[in-house]
Amino acid sequence: MIRKADPCVLVIFGASGDLTARKLIPALYEMYILGNLPEAFRVLGVSRRAKSDAQWRDELAASVREYATRWDAVRWQEFSKCIEYFPGDAAQGEMYRALADRMAAMDASAGTRGNRLFYLSVAPELYESIVQRIDEAALVTEGRRWCSIDASTRSWQRIIVEKPFGHDEESAASLNRALGRVFEEEDIYRIDHYLGKEVVQAMLVLRFANTMFEPVWNHRYIDHVQITASEKVGVGNRTGFYDQTGAIRDMIQSHLLQIFAFAAMEPPTSISAEEIRTEKIKVVRALRPTTDADVPSHGVLGQYAASAEEGAFVDLPGVAKGSTTETFAALKLHVDNWRWAGTPFYLRTGKRMAAKRTEVVVQFKRPAADLFHDIPHAAGGVRGNRLVIEIAPMQRTLLRFETKVPGMPLRMDSVEMQADLEKQFGVAAIEAYGPLLVDAMRGDQSLYKHRIEVESGWAAVMPFLDQRSVGLRRGMASNYAQGSWGPAAADDLMRRDGRAWHDD
Ligand SMILES: NC(=O)c1ccc[n+]([C@@H]2O[C@H](COP(=O)([O-])OP(=O)(O)OC[C@H]3O[C@@H](n4cnc5c(N)ncnc54)[C@H](OP(=O)(O)O)[C@@H]3O)[C@@H](O)[C@H]2O)c1
Repeated sequence: MIRKADPCVLVIFGASGDLTARKLIPALYEMYILGNLPEAFRVLGVSRRAKSDAQWRDELAASVREYATRWDAVRWQEFSKCIEYFPGDAAQGEMYRALADRMAAMDASAGTRGNRLFYLSVAPELYESIVQRIDEAALVTEGRRWCSIDASTRSWQRIIVEKPFGHDEESAASLNRALGRVFEEEDIYRIDHYLGKEVVQAMLVLRFANTMFEPVWNHRYIDHVQITASEKVGVGNRTGFYDQTGAIRDMIQSHLLQIFAFAAMEPPTSISAEEIRTEKIKVVRALRPTTDADVPSHGVLGQYAASAEEGAFVDLPGVAKGSTTETFAALKLHVDNWRWAGTPFYLRTGKRMAAKRTEVVVQFKRPAADLFHDIPHAAGGVRGNRLVIEIAPMQRTLLRFETKVPGMPLRMDSVEMQADLEKQFGVAAIEAYGPLLVDAMRGDQSLYKHRIEVESGWAAVMPFLDQRSVGLRRGMASNYAQGSWGPAAADDLMRRDGRAWHDD
């Protein structure tokens, strides 16, 4: 049975920010409408600028109307009563006494039982100091695992940490240490909203609730796997941020490696958070370190050139002159374990590409013996089966297989079976943040990242980020056309291996 969300106060540091307005509050409102929030629930937003509860609620009403998938003024009125604002500088210790009093008052009036869910929705530079202030103010009272108080009656304090989680392996480890000094690992929720997206859970169900996939889900039958997250949009007005970040940090280290983990992990013994995480950690740890010598043949970085609609990335205001920040990245990774030895995973992401697409493509090998080599085939010959788990632009699962064309003489072609999940079930995807927030209130970490996953993820991409990647960045400026599938070198990366991207 799925555990219900516990009563709690959600404390959002960064209340007046973009993420809170566009994602967090609309997602919470959706969860309220769907009946997924606990009955005793309060939101306390913290940021420096002065405003009243009523002012903040009015601002949020406008963004919920714009960003939530549904709007009902009456339901918003009901929901917004649980939202309050607390002006203060979270980097300074002084405000925490008053913050604690305010939360205690909420416990008394709403029955939130001392349970706290802190959400760090501020600039990453503030994470460590806020965690330290929380500790100094003794806001973490949760008994440790070995505490004798019954877990069902004692209050809990958990923390959700936004991405980016560090900017390299070292800084991620440092942040993990800072968090670990104050919170138990089981109370640290490193959020990756991609894990709230349907693709991850769809993969779990597809792989482990069907008997037809798992037996062939290995190097004997699978030639390679492609994970793509491409966007048609450019970097918008977040140029300064993006110039510091780039495609590997923004997408591959975080989101795509998580999708990879779900696609590549061993079957967990149950779908509990602990078991799933154990398997994810194992597979991320099994990633073969990319050597200096491998970097040029295993990675392609690119930057988009000018088009009629938008200037080149390097020419955008806010981007450093001559910047070599990548807006496109394609990496080839190997997993050194029995399941995947010899079957590479290709991860690709980019801005201003031909289409918005998020998908996992599982390319099976061709049959060991081709009985039909002299039979006409519309595609020129028998192809390996292909399974596509698509999350954007549509939620679909597609399976390509070989078939006989009706009639005489014997001719062959490939056909694709398609399950359009939204059409089939008449339900649209919901904003990923909502279910993730509810999971944190339920104490379910299965869709959150463990410390080791984060650090191993950084270790896997570091060779493509640091000075060893100089060769990849040399002459990179403006090297792929907007609206294309990225630099020609990305196609070469596949061609050298006798493969091609799924771009049709
Ligand atoms: N926006 C997104 O779509 C998105 C997506 C993924 C991850 N993230 C991550 O989420 C975090 C927030 O992003 P954002 O886009 O919402 O940033 P933002 O719009 O710049 O908001 C930052 C918030 O922090 C508050 N703040 C700054 N210093 C503070 C302090 N000393 N004490 C209390 N509040 C303080 C600001 O309000 P005051 O100035 O009033 O204090 C503001 O509310 C970042 O780490 C970002 O990387 C954002």
